[in-house]
Amino acid sequence: MELLKFENISKVFGKKELQNQVLSNISSSIKSQQFVTLLGPSGCGKTTLLNIIGGFLKPDAGQVILEGKRVTGPGPERGFVFQNYALFPWMTVKDNILFPMKRQKMPAPQREDRVQELLSMANLEGKEHLYPHQLSGGMKQRTAVIRSIAYRPQVLLMDEPLGAVDFQMRQTLQEELESIFIRDKVTVMMVTHDVEEAVYMSDRVIVMSNHQGAIAEDYLLDLKRPRDRRSTAYRQAVNHLMDTLQISSNGSESVADLPRVPVLQAINGGCHVAR
Ligand SMILES: Nc1ncnc2c1ncn2[C@@H]1O[C@H](COP(=O)(O)OP(=O)(O)O)[C@@H](O)[C@H]1O
Ligand SMILES: [Mg+2]
Repeated sequence: MELLKFENISKVFGKKELQNQVLSNISSSIKSQQFVTLLGPSGCGKTTLLNIIGGFLKPDAGQVILEGKRVTGPGPERGFVFQNYALFPWMTVKDNILFPMKRQKMPAPQREDRVQELLSMANLEGKEHLYPHQLSGGMKQRTAVIRSIAYRPQVLLMDEPLGAVDFQMRQTLQEELESIFIRDKVTVMMVTHDVEEAVYMSDRVIVMSNHQGAIAEDYLLDLKRPRDRRSTAYRQAVNHLMDTLQISSNGSESVADLPRVPVLQAINGGCHVAR
């Protein structure tokens, strides 16, 4: 069953001769408990599309449907994680995590159990009384993630959540977030421009192009978890998506423009292309 659908989404910024058609007629859908990544060159409209799905931005045309209901604005059934953590600096880790549950009027004993469960999942036990400025970047981002899934949103939207984190911490955090999402059965839609991150974390990668956000490829990653970053199938998936990304940066509309002889055939062993 499709959990989330977006249909024929179009978005234009600016007026008259300064018009910039960022998205034109973009459609897709995602299933429950899938980890889907929107991958694309900088400026291709990833954030715009995610903000439309989040309900923060209205499309000029098209609609977003979550569990059969049309999205008309932000709502608690869609969690959101931003690049810059967005924790409340005046609240402890625990109060930050409790905040959305209180707002959703979750009963106190249930909140308490859930906080403990989340702290343990994110390896933050013993840190609950610290304030954000006392945490490392990785701890802050883990706090932001568990806060956003605390009241079990139907889908978690993340915009470049690890963009501000250095390379090594980034790999560790990818592994930590993966284990949180699997344990808590979270459905995720993440935006990134980092191919490695997309391949490590996703069940499916939607590649957007600079051509009005057109979907250049919809790629299923059928690799067992946790993923082995050095395996041949993993490296082939990375190489393939880098090729697609490069072509989509040139404004091509479709992966059909990709010279597709040996690379794709090699990949079919581990992953497959769904179109
Ligand atoms: N609020 C806005 N007003 C005008 N132009 C915008 C606005 N938001 C985004 N854009 C433009 O839309 C395009 C896509 O932006 P964005 O969705 O942020 O891309 P991405 O996240 O893929 O890097 C860019 O050209 C950007 O300048
Ligand atoms: Mg962006």
